[in-house]
Amino acid sequence: MCGIIGIVGTAPVADRLVESLKRLEYRGYDSAGIATLEKGHLSRRRAEGKLRNLDAVLREAPLEGHIGIGHTRWATHGRPSVANAHPHATTEVAVVHNGIIENFRELRDELLESGANFESETDTEVVAHLVTRELRGGRGPVDAVAAALPRLQGAFALAFLFDGEENLLIGARKGSPLAIGYGNGEMYLGSDAIALAPFTDTISYLDDGDWAVLSTASAEIRNSANARVTRAVQKTTTGSFLVEKGNFRHFMAKEMHEQPEVVAHTLAHYLDMANETVQLPELPFDFARLERVSIAACGTAYYAGLVAKYWFERFARLPVEIDVASEFRYREAPLPANGLSIVISQSGETADTLASLRYARQEGQHLLAVVNVPTSTIAREADVVLPTLAGPEIGVASTKAFTCQLATLAALAVAAGRARGALSTEEERSLVHALVEVPRLMNEALSLGGDIEHLARSFAKTQDVLYLGRGTSFPLALEGALKLKEISYIHAEGYAAGELKHGPIALIDEKMPVVVIAPHDAVFEKTMSNMQEVAARGGRIILLTDTSGAQKASLETEATLVLPDMHPLVAPLVYAIPIQLLAYHTAVVMGTDVDQPRNLAKSVTVE
Ligand code: AGP
Repeated sequence: MCGIIGIVGTAPVADRLVESLKRLEYRGYDSAGIATLEKGHLSRRRAEGKLRNLDAVLREAPLEGHIGIGHTRWATHGRPSVANAHPHATTEVAVVHNGIIENFRELRDELLESGANFESETDTEVVAHLVTRELRGGRGPVDAVAAALPRLQGAFALAFLFDGEENLLIGARKGSPLAIGYGNGEMYLGSDAIALAPFTDTISYLDDGDWAVLSTASAEIRNSANARVTRAVQKTTTGSFLVEKGNFRHFMAKEMHEQPEVVAHTLAHYLDMANETVQLPELPFDFARLERVSIAACGTAYYAGLVAKYWFERFARLPVEIDVASEFRYREAPLPANGLSIVISQSGETADTLASLRYARQEGQHLLAVVNVPTSTIAREADVVLPTLAGPEIGVASTKAFTCQLATLAALAVAAGRARGALSTEEERSLVHALVEVPRLMNEALSLGGDIEHLARSFAKTQDVLYLGRGTSFPLALEGALKLKEISYIHAEGYAAGELKHGPIALIDEKMPVVVIAPHDAVFEKTMSNMQEVAARGGRIILLTDTSGAQKASLETEATLVLPDMHPLVAPLVYAIPIQLLAYHTAVVMGTDVDQPRNLAKSVTVE
């Protein structure tokens, strides 16, 4: 949700802190700030809005100093403003924070009682005052932090900078990610490897409850009992990826067009293309002995899970229950002993999904994670990780990660079918062959971009849009509606096509575009009947179908986008492309911030 960075070094840090924050903007970007020690004294610069505003402030009033901390914010407590921007500080200490201090109200009241003066509406500021009270009570910085941390409830990754302490940085994590970077005569703290990539490829991830005391020459890690611990030191490859748009106008456009390549990369990881069989890593459970599977995820990842439900039940005869992650653990679902719980997450840091994984663990489930960041918290806590090889996804609206999730889940469902004897070798081979076709089919789908760009111009004038689909096209309808909402800010809803007549049909009039997702599959005729119901009420129909479907559809539409015929298994991966393109081009017409839409963040690390 927010990004934090810290450097204790021997060279100027202000520009480097901002450079790192630019890599963290995907975590939130409604305000930003840095603090350094200038001649030993705490100095801050903060700005509302995008990082470029902080850049402008620093150009006007540069900050000196060889030690500092920085923060880019996605507001949880207190609206976006300079006063609420991090770092929060007293005269003695400055702090940046990612997460939520759940007992901040109680702590704030207690601190007000003891004379603290608050400048902001944030939960974070209580941390600065809590440590300050310990410092004023005579404790040194390390002991002051050690005394304050146990008072904090909720999730936090924190970095502390102390007035007069030119060679001391303290970091702490509980629930939100934080890593240490090892430099040459410098040390770093960052929310993730991406933040640290400009400085080092040698990092350690802190575990929950850890805190670390850094100097230019040392990094001392302690656990929640304050005992010295060591954490694995690893080399990251994040530095090698280019956070560039190439010749695309937006990251989202680049990432949509990367899909044929990265889906091929992901499929190659799970399929033996030569023998047309699935090859998964060793699994610590036997699909044949499972009575059912639970799936939990959020947003687009949840829709990937919904598609997978159809696949597990159709091809492996394996019942699936699926929840949005924020509901899963509160439903207190009774889970079978030694069952399988699957979580799906692009970032691997989504708090709701992480909480679902931890609930499933305490319920004795085998934990399988489908994630795009193999060093993420979810990846590190799962029993089995099936990586999606989409590469870093910078656009807040998920595109290539979604189709790579589908590719991974399709391979898993086919493997389950084989293990459970529900699929013959021949049937497995035909499904794998269908998957092998996907990159070519995606390229053909991308060639619809021009038609869709034209369609988007009329689309952009609408207030409300409906998306309809049946079978595995129903989750696609939900995903199409989410894409449109989150980047163009046009209200949209996805429905099971058969559900339209049970109420939503009241919405249909000549102003209402209805996107009908209808490959020529077993439910095509039924969906055509639903389309008739829309036409009879003057609705504007945009039909996504294939060559066979276009020949069979007997209705006048506002637009018909024709994809190649394909195996029903792969339709969700390929039809994802036109619904992504429609949302993208509509947003471009609307002039919204496609890569960083308002109110959103790429990784929602608070519940
Ligand atoms: C997708 O376009 C959205 N930005 C959002 O719904 C996202 O899918 C959701 O927050 C889950 O994120 P995750 O995959 O990183 O867990």
